[in-house]
This record gives sequence, C-alpha cells and structure tokens, in this order.
Amino acid sequence: MNLKFLRSAKISLKLTIIYAFMFSLILLVLSSVTLYGTKYFLYKQANKQVQELTVIIKNKINEQQEQPDLYSKEFFLDIPSKENIYIKISDKDGAIINQSRRVNFNIKSKSMDGKTRRLEKNEKHLIYLNTRVKSAYGVLYIQVVKDLENEYSFMKILFIFMAIADFIGILASLAFGYIISKKMLIPIDKLTNTAENISINNLKERIEVEGPDDELRRLGNTFNNMIDRLQKAFDSQVQFVSDASHELRTPIAIIQGYANLLDRWGKDDKEALEKSIYGIKLEASNMANLIEKLLFLAKGDSYTQIVEKQYFKINELIEEVVQDTRLIDDAHLIKNRENAVTEVYADYKLLKQMLRIFIENSIKFTPQGGFISVDSFVENGQLQISVTDTGIGIPEEDINNIFDRFYTVDKSRSKEKGGSGLGLSIARWIAEVHNAKIEMLSEEGRGTTVIVKLDLKN
Ligand SMILES: Nc1ncnc2c1ncn2[C@@H]1O[C@H](COP(=O)(O)OP(=O)(O)O)[C@@H](O)[C@H]1O
Ligand SMILES: [Mg+2]
Repeated sequence: MNLKFLRSAKISLKLTIIYAFMFSLILLVLSSVTLYGTKYFLYKQANKQVQELTVIIKNKINEQQEQPDLYSKEFFLDIPSKENIYIKISDKDGAIINQSRRVNFNIKSKSMDGKTRRLEKNEKHLIYLNTRVKSAYGVLYIQVVKDLENEYSFMKILFIFMAIADFIGILASLAFGYIISKKMLIPIDKLTNTAENISINNLKERIEVEGPDDELRRLGNTFNNMIDRLQKAFDSQVQFVSDASHELRTPIAIIQGYANLLDRWGKDDKEALEKSIYGIKLEASNMANLIEKLLFLAKGDSYTQIVEKQYFKINELIEEVVQDTRLIDDAHLIKNRENAVTEVYADYKLLKQMLRIFIENSIKFTPQGGFISVDSFVENGQLQISVTDTGIGIPEEDINNIFDRFYTVDKSRSKEKGGSGLGLSIARWIAEVHNAKIEMLSEEGRGTTVIVKLDLKN
C-alpha cells in the first residue's frame, strides 16, 4: 500500500472505515444481546426448575397418604429431570437424612426466605434453594441445587461461535465496504479524469451520465451544463474577435486604397487628392467609432466598465438629449410630447449613451421629414422612456436578433450609413446593469418604438 494509493483512495477508505465500524458495532451489540439474553433465559429456566422441584418434594413429604420412606434411596426415584440436580433433606440440627446423590460441594446457607440463590465456587455455577418444612417427621430442611454445567458449556460454545461470526463479519464488512465505496466513487474518478482533459482547446469532452438519478448523476449533469455554458461563452468570444477583425479589415483596406490612389495621382491631381483625404478621414473616424464600441463591449464583458449610479432628474436628461439631437439633425422633426418629472437612480452618462444609440438609429432609418419623439412617463412604479420614429421599421423575423453583436438587418443598407451592428448590443448591456428591460415594437414601413422600462424603487 503506497502513499499514492492512500491519497487517491481517501474518501473510499474513510467510507470503508465508517461503514466497517458501524457494522462491527451493530454486530457486537447484537452478539452481546444474544449472549446475555441466552444467559438470562437459562438462569430463569434453572430457577424455575429448582422452585418446582422444591414444591414437588414438599408435597411428597406432606401430602401423601402413605408415609413415604424418607430415608430410602427410592424416595428420589420419581423426581423428574434429575440431571445435574442435587436434593438434600436434613433434620433440624442439619444432619443429612437423605440425598439424591453424592456431590463434592456443601452449601451451608441458613437463609430460608424461599428465594433461589446463586453460588460460584471452584469453577462451579450453582443455583440452590433452601426450604423449611414442618412434617410428620418434625422440622425438615430441603435443599435443591442445580449445577449449571451444561448451560455453561452451551454458553461457551455459543460465545466462541459468535466471536468467530463477528470476526468474519467485520472482515467481510471491511472488504465489502471498500469494494462498494470504490464502486460508488467511480463516477467521481471519471469526473476528475474528464475535468483534467478539459482545456480551452478542448471543451468537447463531456461526462457520461448513466445510472439512477442520484447525487452523482446530478453532479455529472451540473458539470456538463457548466462546460456547455463555458463553451458557449468561449465560442461567442471567438466569434466576437473574428467579427471585430473582419469589421476592422474593411476600413483599413479602404484607407490603403486611398493611400495608393494618393501615391499614384495625388501629387498632380487635385481632385484625387481631395477625394482621398476625405475618404481617409471618413474611414478613420468610422474605425475610431468602431474601436470605441468594441472597447466598451470588451470592458463590459470583463466587468471593468465603470458604472456610477446617482440620483438625477430624468426630465433634465431627456431635455438635454432632445436639444442635442435638434442641433445635429435638421432633417427630421424631433419631438418631446411627454416628460415625467421624476428622480432616477442610474448612471447619467450611460443612460444618455443608450438614448443616443436609439435616436441615432431612428435618424438613420427614418426618411427625411419624418418625426422622432423622445418621451418619458411613469407607469406602475416604472419609468418608461420611449424613442419613436416614423422610419422604415424592422422586419418581424429580425427583431429578436438586432440586439446581437454585429447584427444588422440589411448589411449594405447599414454599411453605407456607417453602422456596425454594435449599437443595440451596447444599449442592451447598459439596460442590464440598470436592471432595465428594453421593448422593441416595430412595423415595416410605418416606424419603430423602443421602450426602456426602469424600476423606480431601487
Ligand atoms: N429605429 C430603427 N428603425 C429601423 N431599423 C432599426 C432601428 N433601430 C435598429 N434597427 C435595425 O437594427 C440593426 C442593429 O442596430 P444597431 O445595433 O444600432 O446597429 P447599427 O446601427 O450599427 O446598424 C440596424 O442595422 C437596423 O437594421
Ligand atoms: Mg445603431
């Protein structure tokens, strides 16, 4: 038994020891109860026998019509079950009148209270009863003694038998306990092995869950679910990185293209020069935009995005956002029909950023002359902020996906408007850190309404 074995078998060893200990305890208690029970029963039987015999002798002396021959050996002839029994009749001075047989002991007890007594002497176990009888012969003393020799040899055999049985039982419980606990822990070993094999490069492995619906099976399932979640998270990270690089490749390619154009014609051709500079500036700003969004999401993923909640008046924020929007967008009618005067506990900058994302979308996807309304109202203890537009709307089949990263309804449509598909992902993250819900209602060709629902009591 080397150390490694002990270490790896720790739980099973512990289980075995506990199991064997309990089993041995039960076995020993059971054996002792059996032994003591048997002893008690045998003593009781012996007591009874001695008492019955005393009564028989008494009756024989007193009640018989014919005078029995008290002095004759025949006197004891018809006494039942004389085996290991000794009967002595003596006169009032203690002189023996008659005895059933010769024995090598002599009990000189004078107690006459009719109770049986025990005597352990020279490895002999005796039960005796002394009685005083008044008879035609005068006062007599009857002594009935039972030698428990047979009972004791029976007990001895029983004890040896039980000791052997206990010994075998304890050995067996150790062996079985070890085998059973080992077997029960096999799934845990499997779990350990699988866990050891799992790494970022190998999230495919799963534990085989079989057998009854017990704790180990649940542990296996929990473990598998955990790996599922890990794999999902990891896959989406990989996807995110690949999408991000893809998105960055396009503006870089465009900038490279303009740089080549400049290199070839820009020195002489003023038009090419201006076109290139304009293009490079635009793409660089798109790229900066994209990188900023990527950074925001990365910080959100790694919980390093700072969220500073404070109390402020939501109507002031809405007013500010509406003013800003009117400044940058004169192609639409920007309205503010309702504005709840109430305090909220939130991150001012993040909430503003979220509204900007919705408003930017509305501006992008609403034809000139349409209107955009930013409103807020309180309903059922909830603050609701809505951004409504009369734009092109979102197809029903896309509405569940537009919050996914890089998802745009129509790639070409969104691209030319400088969209990356990250805006709503950011908005969703901001809503989540505020425990807010975003509802998106849209009808193609008629317009879109985004509602943010924020609990006021928190
Ligand atoms: N108000 C809106 N009207 C029409 N389509 C919208 C509106 N808001 C969002 N969408 C759709 O959802 C997509 C995802 O939006 P977003 O995440 O902000 O990405 P981006 O604006 O960069 O394209 C948009 O590409 C657009 O197709
Ligand atoms: Mg957007």
